[in-house]
Parts: sequence; C-alpha cells; structure tokens
Amino acid sequence: MFKIQTLNKIDPDGLGLFPLDKYEIASEIPNPDAVVLRSFNMHEMELPESLKAVARAGAGVNNIPIDKCTEKGVVVFNTPGANANGVKELVIAGLLLASRGIAEGISWAKTLVGKGEEVPSLIEQGKKNFAGQEIKGKTLAVIGLGAIGVLVANAAHTLGMKVIGYDPYMSVKQALQLSNQVKWVKGIQSLLSQADYVTLNIPLTPETKGYINKEKFGMMKKNVRILNFARGGLVDINDLKEAIASGKVASYVTDFPNEETLKMDKVIAIPHLGASTSESETNCAIMAVNQVKDFLEDGN
Ligand code: MLT
Repeated sequence: MFKIQTLNKIDPDGLGLFPLDKYEIASEIPNPDAVVLRSFNMHEMELPESLKAVARAGAGVNNIPIDKCTEKGVVVFNTPGANANGVKELVIAGLLLASRGIAEGISWAKTLVGKGEEVPSLIEQGKKNFAGQEIKGKTLAVIGLGAIGVLVANAAHTLGMKVIGYDPYMSVKQALQLSNQVKWVKGIQSLLSQADYVTLNIPLTPETKGYINKEKFGMMKKNVRILNFARGGLVDINDLKEAIASGKVASYVTDFPNEETLKMDKVIAIPHLGASTSESETNCAIMAVNQVKDFLEDGN
C-alpha cells in the first residue's frame, strides 16, 4: 500500500482517483510516500525519511522547501495551467476594479441604507465620485507569459486593449507561439514606459522578490494601474507606498493583502481568490493526484 498524507483539504474528484486497494490516505499518517497539499507552509516541517514526492495542487511552489526536497531526493510536482482560467478571470475583474470605482462604489452604496428618499440624489453624487475610465484602447503590460499571462493577454486583447508583453525567461519565438495577440517588448524599461496597466504573472523566487520597486516605478507612466495576482512579495511595499503618495500609481489591485497594504489608499485587496473556484480546485487536484500516481506506480 502507498501512503498519502494530505496537508490541506483536496478536492474529492482528484483524491478519489487514488484506488483504495492500493492507497491509504489521511491527513496524519506515519511514513507517507507522498504528500499532497494546497497552501500548507511546509518550510518548518520535518521531511519524513519515507517521503518520495510532494504534489502541490496549485501553480506556485513558494510554500515548499525546494532545496530541502532536492537534497533528500524528494520530487516536487505542481499543476501549472490547471487553475490558469480561474486566475485569468479574476485578473480581468482586477482590470475593471482598477478602472471603474466598483469596489469603492459598493462599499459606499452600503452606507445609503436608511437614507430613504435621499437615496436618488445621493446616487447622483456617487455617479460623479466614482466615475472611472474604460480599458478599451489602453495599453496592458503583461509581465510573465506563462499559462496565466498568455490567457490574460488574449482576453484583454478581445476587450480592445493593446497588449504588450515581457518575460525574463522566454524567447520572442516561444512567446509568439503562445499568443500572437501580444506585442513582444524587449526589455522591461520599454514595457513599463508604455503601460497604462501592468499585470504581474511571474512566480515569486529569490530573484523576483521585490521585482516591482522604486527603480521600476520610475520607469512607469503617471497614473499607472498595477494588478498583482501572482504573489505579494513581488512588489516592494515601501516603494509602492511612495509611488501611490506621489500620484504615480493610480490603483494597486492585489490578491495578497497584508497589514500594510490594507491600510493604504488606492489599494483594492482581495483575499487570494484567484484560483478559488470549484473548477480550479478540481482541475488542480486531478492533475496533482495523477502526477503522484504516475510517479509512485511507474516512476515517471
Ligand atoms: C497558485 O499558486 O496556484 C495560485 O496562487 C492559487 C492558489 O494557490 O490558491
């Protein structure tokens, strides 16, 4: 019998793929062969000697101690692409949140409860206070043309945006094969200087920590709107604070709120809902479980 430890709740459509005559599955189990997880932080966890594989039902692997796993010969799997549509749809919502006073307007509208006959005139006021801009014709800079970045680029193009892209790890040829809607830009300076909107779609690694910092804000146009549905650590928060205060950044929409950003003006924070859809949970779980099964049963 193979032993599987689940460190988070895993979608049953995925977990059910482990045949019970061959697998024992539990959240606590001695000597597991593999662990399957979502966002559990494994960095402080002692890796059991029996462990052969770790599978994350999600794209990012920053909650997994990759170096420690490599040292111990533990194979790490993730599920790139499996939740890309879910994240893409929220990034598109983010574009609109950054443009149309939706979040502010919703909170404000709640304050109208009990205002009775005054409501129509107050709404007229709200229309003025929360007026926005349209995204059609604006330039969206996509940083990172992986599974999510490409879907975002194509969707934004269909909404009438001019899409430019940059990926530090991809060749022009590869990027064009993925999306011919994106105008490839060589170099981050050229990309940022043209952008009305910037979307971050790169992983958080030691190299990309604080990627959007004072220097990068300096390359951007005034009133730029930034979407971060990738990882909070990609943006230097102190530099963001300054960029907002100086009027450089008109809006920062993030799926990774923290104590600092929640207090800041012009920040719209969402509680990491990018892949929180039933479809994404199912797709990621199926992919992660199949990877573990293939590895344990066939060694690939
Ligand atoms: C991911 O890493 O796949 C996304 O951040 C979504 C998630 O983990 O919930």
